[in-house]
Amino acid sequence: MINIRCETLPDYTVIAEVNTLAFGQENEAKLVEKIRRSDRYIPELSLVAEVENVVVGHILFSYINLVGEETLQVIGLAPLAVHPQFQRRGIGSALVQAGLEKADAKKEALVIVLGHPHFYNRFGFQPSVIYEIESPFLVPEDVFMVKTLQSYEKKYKGKVVYPAVFEEI
Ligand SMILES: CC(C)(COP(=O)(O)OP(=O)(O)OC[C@H]1O[C@@H](n2cnc3c(N)ncnc32)[C@H](O)[C@@H]1OP(=O)(O)O)[C@@H](O)C(=O)NCCC(=O)NCCS
Repeated sequence: MINIRCETLPDYTVIAEVNTLAFGQENEAKLVEKIRRSDRYIPELSLVAEVENVVVGHILFSYINLVGEETLQVIGLAPLAVHPQFQRRGIGSALVQAGLEKADAKKEALVIVLGHPHFYNRFGFQPSVIYEIESPFLVPEDVFMVKTLQSYEKKYKGKVVYPAVFEEI
């Protein structure tokens, strides 16, 4: 029923529509476009969910920095959007799961997300403080989360620094 695949150029318009409808504003759609044009974009980690060949969901993972003793590249999950008429059918979960599997296969160490713990805990995301990873935002500890992958090592700690394109969100 749900088909998950990488985005292609003809999807860009509908991806923007899905983000705008899901969030009720254009900021996230614009963020997707800015990340695509930046060196933080990971083409194989921009995924769409199709139902009957129509794109109804989108997830983007891109590179962000983790600054500690050294600066390490990790993965940030944002944004995730499912068309309002298709929410609560497992589409968002399928996108997260597919993205985590691809990131793991790419030997990425960890994925960071700012979001609802109720939604993300089911995938194994935990508060970042557990891993000595500090949020750049003044938010409750439980909403800034980390999912470690097979390539995770203890050296991955410090403060998360998002690229400038995130500043307008
Ligand atoms: C969040 C979102 C991507 C989830 O997609 P989805 O396809 O509805 O998710 P699934 O059907 O896989 O899972 C539904 C679960 O997500 C939870 N959920 C959905 N939206 C939620 C929200 N705004 N706040 C808290 N939990 C939410 C539901 O409670 C449900 O949990 P349950 O299974 O325990 O009832 C989708 O609702 C959406 O696009 N929301 C608007 C955009 C947004 O907030 N994105 C940011 C995510 S951090």
